[in-house]
Amino acid sequence: MPTDAADIILFGPTKPTIVNGLKAHRLTQATTLQEVADLSPAIAATVRGVGVAGLVKMDRAMFARFPKLEIVSTFGVGYDHIDTACARERGIVVTNTPDVLTEETADTALALLLCTARDFINGERYVRDGEWAKKPFPLSKATLRDRTVGIVGMGRIGQAIARRLEAMKVPVVYHSRRKNAEVANKYYANLMEMARDVDTLVVITPGGAETQNLINAEVLKALGSNGILINAARGSVVDEDALIAALKNGTIMAAGLDVFVKEPNVPQDLIAMKNVVLFPHLGSASVYTRNAMDQLVADNLNAWFAGKAPLTPVAETPPSISKFRS
Ligand code: 8YV
Repeated sequence: MPTDAADIILFGPTKPTIVNGLKAHRLTQATTLQEVADLSPAIAATVRGVGVAGLVKMDRAMFARFPKLEIVSTFGVGYDHIDTACARERGIVVTNTPDVLTEETADTALALLLCTARDFINGERYVRDGEWAKKPFPLSKATLRDRTVGIVGMGRIGQAIARRLEAMKVPVVYHSRRKNAEVANKYYANLMEMARDVDTLVVITPGGAETQNLINAEVLKALGSNGILINAARGSVVDEDALIAALKNGTIMAAGLDVFVKEPNVPQDLIAMKNVVLFPHLGSASVYTRNAMDQLVADNLNAWFAGKAPLTPVAETPPSISKFRS
């Protein structure tokens, strides 16, 4: 089937790979939240495809603005910014960008863990500040040599993290909603039980209502005073206030965070702490991987408007729900 040139709107920053990839269509861009809000009803009325290149919220009110919408193609593997229940009701397919970012994001989680456990960032600063010539950098209190890592969320990225840790001879166990039959590591149905048994948690579970504040004060207490928490998932998965309190009073030892509740705003309390490593949400942020993600955003829309199945629909909205296809 030839490509059906459609009215598509792209939310978020301008991305050349997405824009070039959608040349066959009539593309409108809304790069800022104000532009998104100001989008004229006349344009919205014709839109059949939405590309989401940032974390622009697609909630019920937003969906209501697009009566002819057929597909939302979002950038990123996480899609907690999209109301998939509403999309499903309306027969709209949602796609994301899994797989192409798995290894990059696993690398980032590993880097965060290593930097946090071995105090590498403070060591780097020590050299730049001219301190090394005065006295040697202190030995790190923690090591990965005597740790057991509990991965929270054993999806594609969780498994890629586990593979890396196993190559480093670090024992790995996991907690997720369901036991994964393809994963041989010990499974904990109960997160508290796992937190009690391990000293390191790596959080890589989807965000959204189901996992909101999953890592709370009780879990941090169970992790214990030798505990390290790594979050490469979503800020919402960790109760940030409880984490700050736990770090301040020694309930856990340290944390490495790539994600925060109100990005890009990071609580001053966390910035002030030496036992915390902070990354600016760069899990997938290499030119190589972001380009592959951008391409997949365009490819999903192109497949759809060429009459084919989208490449990576999310589980909640299989193409069969579409009311726009017979
Ligand atoms: C992106 C991510 O940084 O894929 C995800 O879910 O969190 C990251 O790869 C995010 O989508 C930014 O828009």
